[in-house]
Amino acid sequence: MNKMVKVFAPVSIGNVSVGFDSLGLALKPIDGELLGDLVTVETHQDSNNFVLQGKFAQRLPANKESNIVWDVVLAFEAALQQQNIKTTPIKITLDKNIPVCSGLGSSACSVVATVVALNEFYGKPFDDSKLLIMMGEAEGKISGSLHYDNVAPCFLGGLQLMIPKQQQVALQLPVFDSVYWVLAYPDVLISTQAARDLLPKHYDRETLIHFGQNLAGFVAASYEKNLELAFAMISDEIAEPYRAELLPDFQTTKQTMLDMNSLAMGISGSGPTVFSACRTLEEAQQQASWLKLNYLQSDEGFVSICQIDQQGTRKIQ
Ligand code: HSE
Repeated sequence: MNKMVKVFAPVSIGNVSVGFDSLGLALKPIDGELLGDLVTVETHQDSNNFVLQGKFAQRLPANKESNIVWDVVLAFEAALQQQNIKTTPIKITLDKNIPVCSGLGSSACSVVATVVALNEFYGKPFDDSKLLIMMGEAEGKISGSLHYDNVAPCFLGGLQLMIPKQQQVALQLPVFDSVYWVLAYPDVLISTQAARDLLPKHYDRETLIHFGQNLAGFVAASYEKNLELAFAMISDEIAEPYRAELLPDFQTTKQTMLDMNSLAMGISGSGPTVFSACRTLEEAQQQASWLKLNYLQSDEGFVSICQIDQQGTRKIQ
């Protein structure tokens, strides 16, 4: 019998400035657009087949062996075989709607959607923690190190704190539902690997103390539902000072957002997308208009007003 599963995986902000490699937030546009990748898995004759389509498909090599989705299929099939589960030929289609190297967790979208679609297709043989580990390993191959700050929120939704301890990878944190998150992707290319290579190998004691205080303060204030304090803790001494130069006029952009009453503004993941958190829709719209006019570098850049996506990756068909 022919079977088909279609899965959507949303964009995410890695780091959220205050939690380098440790915090990630899934987002959805308020206008209902599906901002993320779609993966469809269906029964196929003969052998596995891969189709690449979507708005940003042309930015990836067309051959299947160069696409992370194909690596995920092979790894998933190996895991099935270890469990003595029979595999079947499939056609897998990636709708690549998020540009690669955007700082929006683009590769995580592809990886997570593929893993979830395959798991659904095969009748859910693996639980969430096993799936998350598979996702992290695949994502690590692309970005050069194992970090879950995009795959965990993309998969599970909401705001996730990475705590790779005792077989648990992530903890869900409370969020401020009322906040609007403006995302601006300028369309300049920054690879996560290159952006990581720019960072110091070691940090001084003062920087480490600030990092611990800010992240702990953010988490505690989030639990206390103290919005102003939580957002006041959002600052980044780990990555932003070293990566700012990669982004188009980042300091001016940041200062302008703060002058326009932003709660917090920073680099999404390794950039070049930036985010600004806003108290009201009106402020978000004003900031989005400024970013459209001043931060975008090509017609393929975009600005999106979002709120938190609590659902994460989901089957839509
Ligand atoms: N947390 C990683 C980084 C990946 O900033 O390098 C972000 O997507």
